[in-house]
Formats: sequence, C-alpha cells, structure tokens
Amino acid sequence: MLDRRSLLAGGAALFATAACSRSTSSLGGGGANPLPIPPLLDAQPGRSFALQVQSGTTSFYPGRPSDTLGYNGSYLGPTIRVRRGDDVAVAVTNRLKADTTVHWHGLLIPGELDGGPHQIIAPGATWRPTLPIRQPAATLLYHSHVHGLTAEQVYSGLAGALLVTDDEEQGLGLPSEYGVDDLPLLIQDRQFENGRLVMPGGMMVAMQGRRGDTTLVNGAVNPLAAVPNRLVRLRLVNASNARIYELSFSDQRSFYWIGTEGGLLERAVALESITLAPGQRGELLVDFTDGRPASLVTAADTNSAMMGGMGMMGRGAGRTDAAAPATVLRFEPRPSGQARASGAVPTLLASRTRPDASKAVRRRRLILNMGMGGMMGSGNGGGGLTINGKPFDINRIDETVKLGSTEIWEVSGEMMRHPIHIHGVHFDVLTRGGGQPDVLDQGPRDTVVVKEPVELLIRFDQPAKSAPFMYHCHILEHEDNGMMGQFSVA
Ligand code: C2O
Ligand code: CU
Ligand code: CU
Repeated sequence: MLDRRSLLAGGAALFATAACSRSTSSLGGGGANPLPIPPLLDAQPGRSFALQVQSGTTSFYPGRPSDTLGYNGSYLGPTIRVRRGDDVAVAVTNRLKADTTVHWHGLLIPGELDGGPHQIIAPGATWRPTLPIRQPAATLLYHSHVHGLTAEQVYSGLAGALLVTDDEEQGLGLPSEYGVDDLPLLIQDRQFENGRLVMPGGMMVAMQGRRGDTTLVNGAVNPLAAVPNRLVRLRLVNASNARIYELSFSDQRSFYWIGTEGGLLERAVALESITLAPGQRGELLVDFTDGRPASLVTAADTNSAMMGGMGMMGRGAGRTDAAAPATVLRFEPRPSGQARASGAVPTLLASRTRPDASKAVRRRRLILNMGMGGMMGSGNGGGGLTINGKPFDINRIDETVKLGSTEIWEVSGEMMRHPIHIHGVHFDVLTRGGGQPDVLDQGPRDTVVVKEPVELLIRFDQPAKSAPFMYHCHILEHEDNGMMGQFSVA
C-alpha cells in the first residue's frame, strides 16, 4: 500500500496546490455541528419497512438551503435494521419526478429483488419486494442505481445504511446501543459554493469521479460526536461518489478492525489506519476510556488518472483541489458512568467457511478500461470507460454463471485505482498483483480496489435469471458512463 501511495504522491502534489479553495468558515462552518444519527427504522418487530424517495432542501450551512434528495427525509435516509432469518416486506414509493431504484448493496438476494438498473420505480409508483435475509450480521448500504443517474442521485442524497443483525453477533457483547456506542458513519465529500451544494460536471468529473472539498458525515459538515468514554463501534460506510479515504486518528491511536462489507472478521485486527473506497464498509472498535478527544482524519486523495500536464486541465472543473488531507469527524468522550475495561475486545468474532479455491470451475478476466483514446472521446458517449472494451449495455448479458458454482475472477484497472463491486455475492481476495493479498483485503467482501490484477474467489449462490446482477466500478461516474457489466446466474 505504501508503494502505491508514494508512486502516486508526485502527481497528487500538483493538484493539492490548486488555488480555488473557498473558505467556508465565514458561513458558520467553523463551529462544530453535533453528529446527526439517522433515525433507526427497525424492521424486526413488523418484518416490514417503507421508504419514500423524496426531494427537499437541506441547510448544510445555516441559512443556505440546497436542493437535495432523501429517503423519508430531505438528505440521506434512515438506518434500516433487519434480522437474519426474516422475510422483510418492503414498500418503496417514488415521490420524485424522475425514475429511481433502490439497490440493497451487499444483501445476498435473488436478482429481481436487487434494486439494480432493471428494477426501475417510475414517478408515483411503489415497488414491493420481499427480502429474504439469510446472511450473517453486517453493515450494508442502500442507494439509487438507476442507470445514467446513479451518480447524481447519490450525490444529491439517495443513500443510507442497512444493518443485518443475528444471534451470533448479539452474543459477542460488542457495543450495540444504536447512536450511542454503535454509530453508523456515512462519509461523503461534497462541493459547496457560498455554502450551497453544487454538482461539479464536465469531462474531468467523468474521468476522475465527482469529488468535493468538504467532508460530510451523516450529512453534517464539521461534525462532532459526543461518545461515552468506553469502547465504541464505528460502522464506516464510504458513501462518496469517488473518493478513497485513508483513515486514521489524529493522535495515531490504534483501533480494532472487526468487520468488512460481508460482516465480521474471524479475528479483530489492530490497525492504525484503514483504506475505504466508495461502496466499502469497515467496522471498527475504538477505545475512548482515556477520555481524550481525537479526530478521525483522512490522508490526501492520491487516486487520479491525470498525469503531468493533464492535471492542469483538471483544476476547477474536476475539483482536483479537493485532494487535500481533511478532518472527517471529531470525537469527544464524555463520562458515561459505565466505563468498561479497555481489554474488552472479543478476539474471536465470526466463523465462516470460505469457498474452496480448488473447486473453482472457471476463470474470467475483467479489465476496467479508461483508454487514452477514450479520453479524447471515442464515440461511445462515455469517453472510453468500459469493461473489456465494452461500454455497459442494459440489453446485453456479459457473463453467464452456473448457480452454486465457484469461480475465480481476475480483475484489473487502467490508469487509476477502481473499486470493483459485484452484486449478489461475497468474495475473498486470493492474490493481489500476483502475490499475497494486503492485510486490508481479508474477510468476505463485495467491493475491493483494483489496479494491479486481483484474483477474487467467488461462489455464486443467488439466482439471477429474470433479472441479471451487475458488476461495476463503484466510482459512480465511471459506472454511469459505461464501466459496468451484467451477469446472469442460473
Ligand atoms: Cu453500491 Cu451496484 O452498487
Ligand atoms: Cu451492490
Ligand atoms: Cu473506475
């Protein structure tokens, strides 16, 4: 990881000096805003929940309303909690003037329930899938996935957290008081002009992905979390369109990494920093028993397809000035009257049977392309953003997989790091760049960063016959502009 970072650091330094940063402190952004906790929509008692997809206004800065989208609110959505074993009846009503979909990112369910580009909800319509929850406890997310508008709808606010819980997790004694010592944290970067949300556009945005110079957590700028002075569980969700975060604490404290997209790790891993790409989740346990405040910070954003002179073109339009290190969230521990020993981290978390690599019956190769030819416009409308040279076509099934089979997919990406996400499965990283996977690659995953070739071991247990599953880059502008394919499972 260090190698990749230093390789790219030279290029990133160019962008970090761009001069269009606009101070927002004069807009009341200098003071702290209490971290908002999304309302908990607990589907356990009634085994059902309802979402209204709606538009509204949100004042990220006082007196500066912005037009935004949300679920049951004006920006983002409630935290939905479902329980393993339940069949959950869902009603999603689209109150927008545009089509939308709601994709349950990370949920292992059949293709026609997935909420991808094929499950369009027209304006005024209600979609009623019943979701069979049959997977271990995990932090998932839900978001718009209507082809061509995913990036804009998510940027405007259509995302939320979805938690799966089960007996095994609840028996571990992990912090579990929602909003107190168990916090969902949706991290996003957004661009503001005079305190109002703006949506950068243009070719640089299509190439680099839409970034912003301001970091939001759960929709708040300059957020401050008051936490009890004990062990706290952070469920990090990268709900940004394009930015990859390199997260650590300002005081270099270590923390325990306990979960990935697919759920809890087998063992807690002590770390001092963690990388989180768009679509990825990371669950952490952080010890605040010493009562000292600390900030979660991110290193500079080094992920760029632009080299040398091309970088100069990116200033302004591509908001490459948004690459600076940033404070993500400040924590202030408060006496809670029930401090627990700092050693109370369970070492053994989850047991799971990995797919067996020797059972793999097929190997497929995916190359996420962004060729120079495409950059100048190769006529597919997206500017060379393809997979294996083919831009997304909703009428073409790219791969056909046998239900219940195990395969190895070898995925690599051109010019920059791309978070590859595959619907309907959790996979393991077998190799990275021909060698051992990174420490941070471990666990059941649904999204991993590729540039160098990465081998993914995948078992396909969910059917996708009447509607296919997607695989795509989770830089949402890449996805919308063609870096996506679809596969059936039968
Ligand atoms: Cu989170 Cu296909 O997406
Ligand atoms: Cu997904
Ligand atoms: Cu990409």
